[in-house]
Amino acid sequence: MNQVLRQHAEVQYAEELAALAKTDDKPRPPGWKLSPWAVTEYLMGGRAGKLEITPKYIGNRRLIEIAVATLATDRALLLYGVPGTAKSWVSEHLAAAIAGDSTLLIQGTAGTSEEAVRYGWNYAKLLAEGPSRAALVESPLVRAMQDGKIARLEELTRIPSDVQDTLITILSEKTLPIPELSTEVQAVKGFNLIATANNKDRGVNELSSALKRRFNTVVLPTPDTLEEEVEIVSRRVESLGKALELPGEKPALEEIRRVVTVFRELRDGVTADGKTKLKSPSGTLSTAEAISVVGQGMALAGHFGDGSLKAADIASGLVGAIVKDPVQDRVVYLEYLETVVKERPGWKDLYRACREVV
Ligand SMILES: Nc1ncnc2c1ncn2[C@@H]1O[C@H](COP(=O)(O)OP(=O)(O)OP(=O)(O)O)[C@@H](O)[C@H]1O
Ligand SMILES: [Mg+2]
Repeated sequence: MNQVLRQHAEVQYAEELAALAKTDDKPRPPGWKLSPWAVTEYLMGGRAGKLEITPKYIGNRRLIEIAVATLATDRALLLYGVPGTAKSWVSEHLAAAIAGDSTLLIQGTAGTSEEAVRYGWNYAKLLAEGPSRAALVESPLVRAMQDGKIARLEELTRIPSDVQDTLITILSEKTLPIPELSTEVQAVKGFNLIATANNKDRGVNELSSALKRRFNTVVLPTPDTLEEEVEIVSRRVESLGKALELPGEKPALEEIRRVVTVFRELRDGVTADGKTKLKSPSGTLSTAEAISVVGQGMALAGHFGDGSLKAADIASGLVGAIVKDPVQDRVVYLEYLETVVKERPGWKDLYRACREVV
């Protein structure tokens, strides 16, 4: 039995990828495992022969087509958007479908160094043997170049600007000089880069215009409609529940709809009917957080309740997600409970449960 807590996309969806590769008769760019069309099918869902392909990204198909088409050109892809809009998720699945490998990942932080982006040295070897290829520690980016795969760079704008700029040569010349060895690593066909950036970090380290020109940016939006967001949450929660082997049944759509409604109303600053203006809390109430509120509720219901998700199981998750600032957000949340939740027909149980834990 597989004890890995979270499998990589290419492992978890190996069957779908294999079925797509088998039925895919469209032209594949050099080094790609699938055609751009099949990659899009993999992300958006569809059919491959008898097998149903589950949708990974729920939203506008055109955005994914643009992202995939970009990766078939000499430009890199930047997925940009508010937190929790599936940037990392889409990046993982794109790399899995195109290169069969989503693991060539660099996590960008304020402390990301040039060595993490390019290469470093194994100092024991370096001292013993002097600079040699064997003493070189390649970054995931260099490995992607050598193998013609997709590299992933998370949170690009958190990386200090001078380190970001090391990407310029790689992206425009498709080569990485290694002056210490008087050599270079030239990228093999199939290589490209997917970076993600979060617009909350904007301004932290704005991309230089030289670097910006090497990227095509695709902005991933928050879901347009309540229905779309409910679908995203219920799909993700169902597969998370399976992966974590949570006891209990899959949550009722009604309960998910309530969580998503609360999130959307507070995010938009107005009730769904457009009648009451609301104050928004300080944190972002993303779809990703709605997923964790329902997920936590399922764990509570499964382990401590009768297995079916109830208002009391989501109430504590709601406070946790909404009240990030203990003073201001609490006021916003209480006002929302009193003016909206309390008065809404059929929401009495949720009101009571929320009042108990706030
Ligand atoms: N449109 C969507 N379709 C499918 N899943 C979605 C969608 N939006 C959000 N999700 C889910 O939300 C979760 C969080 O997404 P992810 O971590 O990729 O967000 P992110 O945009 O990278 O956020 P951050 O900026 O915080 O890194 C994932 O489990 C993903 O499945
Ligand atoms: Mg992310």
